[in-house]
Amino acid sequence: MGLRADSVGYSTSAVRPRSPSCVESSRLLIDVSRTFQANEILITGANGFVGKVALAMLLARYPEAARVHVLVRPRRGVSAQQRFEDEVLASPVFQPFDREGFAERIVVHEGDAAELGDEAAQAMAGVKLIIHCAGLVEFFAPVDESLRANVDAVEKVADLAGRIGAKLLHVSTCYVAGRGNGLVEESQLIEGFYPLRKDCNDMAFDAQTEIAKLRERIGELNAQGRDGTAQRALIELGRSRAERWGWVNTYTYTKSLGEQTLAARSDIEWAIVRPAIVESALEFPFPGWVEGGRTAAPLVLMALGGMSEWPARGDLSLEVVPVDQIAAAMLGVAALLAEGKADRVYQLAVSDRNPFPMRRLIALLAAEAKRRGAQVGGDPKLFDGQTYVQRNRRQKARVEKLERRFQALSKWLKSKGLPGSGAAARKSGQMRQAALQLRFREQTVEQYLPFTEQNRYVFEANHIRMAMAELSDGDRARLPWTPESIDWPSYWRDNEIEGVLKWVQPDAVRDWSFQL
Ligand SMILES: NC(=O)c1ccc[n+]([C@@H]2O[C@H](COP(=O)([O-])OP(=O)(O)OC[C@H]3O[C@@H](n4cnc5c(N)ncnc54)[C@H](OP(=O)(O)O)[C@@H]3O)[C@@H](O)[C@H]2O)c1
Repeated sequence: MGLRADSVGYSTSAVRPRSPSCVESSRLLIDVSRTFQANEILITGANGFVGKVALAMLLARYPEAARVHVLVRPRRGVSAQQRFEDEVLASPVFQPFDREGFAERIVVHEGDAAELGDEAAQAMAGVKLIIHCAGLVEFFAPVDESLRANVDAVEKVADLAGRIGAKLLHVSTCYVAGRGNGLVEESQLIEGFYPLRKDCNDMAFDAQTEIAKLRERIGELNAQGRDGTAQRALIELGRSRAERWGWVNTYTYTKSLGEQTLAARSDIEWAIVRPAIVESALEFPFPGWVEGGRTAAPLVLMALGGMSEWPARGDLSLEVVPVDQIAAAMLGVAALLAEGKADRVYQLAVSDRNPFPMRRLIALLAAEAKRRGAQVGGDPKLFDGQTYVQRNRRQKARVEKLERRFQALSKWLKSKGLPGSGAAARKSGQMRQAALQLRFREQTVEQYLPFTEQNRYVFEANHIRMAMAELSDGDRARLPWTPESIDWPSYWRDNEIEGVLKWVQPDAVRDWSFQL
């Protein structure tokens, strides 16, 4: 049985759609096509997974739209234009479409979102709407890098919006909610929020004070030189600051700081979309398209590699939404924002209406693994995360001990001129490989525990349903937001698993299938 908002004690009134008459009376308030014709749009992060799909959808579904601007930074001697051609136009995302025709409608700007200034304001003077999709999605990056991508860039893009008179749609994440359980409401306060906040009188957190402290500490660490130790200290700093306030990683901590920085601005019109976990496309540009493999892909690969014991709560729903649904929602909200009709926050999530509990997901993944010939050690079992991590560590210690023993044996055999030294060295190599896989598995599982076991959220997603109700039938067909009707078993089988296998790491199933 699926996790339902009402079955876990949350109020379903909060997730009730507007009454039909209310929806009817507000329909056709905006005409997305006209809005996109009248507003040049800038998309940052358009060479990333989400941005690329949003860009392609805008161009493909609205051929009449005005020019689209993208901001790309140069990298290692490769210009922004070249990166755009190699990473965006040449991507499979654009394969079904007229690449040359698309290229003519796009203006590529070279630059870093965290450094936008006068030149950018001049070059982008015609832009009326910004979709800020750039960000650093790594969970535990050095905190100065996360701060730059997820906070400084928001500030600079907001400055740019102010200077050129553009409206700003910022792409955040549902997981700014941090540690917690229950319904996460879209109306929840942004400024001053921290996950361990006791009640609405709790004013302990101030984003600007936190950012200033962080910068001071980063400055001290950077003054010591940028070696491995400083790098580890910067990773640790992000982890500890996040934990101090209740965020589950540096990524979500800095994304919340970015939201709070934006929410403090009264000089521009802005809105925030918060996608949940973004995964393989349902339909656009074609079913199964996925890129990057940061989120559910490792889980899929571990399952197909034969993993049968899962640190997860069976009744918790993994909040996955297909990337094309996210792109459609972003474009719909962007159009509403351009027309001055947007809400502040849109959670792009689904489990308030159509949850898919971990128990069912794990059973499905195990069945798929078996069907594909993996050695699955019995029926899938759910474990608590700490037990799992400790067992994995013990297993790793045993494997590392074996590695050392085979290595010593190989040396000894060689020193005595006895046969078998090569075989012992190979065995030691296998053990090293196994230990590495166990370490990777442990890290992956630990990073996922907040989403698969420790926190049981239901993200309210009322605003996007209401937003979509304000579009015409034609626009809703061009920008479909229909996660409530997704059949999750077929989505996971036909889109997610197939997509991960095809686009993420074709060899990874073999790499993940080491069995002790
Ligand atoms: N993927 C998810 O599951 C998910 C879920 C919720 C929310 N989100 C949000 O969605 C957005 C896009 O995520 P994604 O999955 O598409 O990530 P992605 O594939 O890593 O793309 C991120 C993009 O941001 C660009 N970028 C980062 N810092 C930049 C800077 N300072 N200046 C210019 N460009 C910069 C990157 O450019 P380079 O190539 O130059 O690095 C890249 O194109 C992020 O804001 C993320 O927080 C993602």
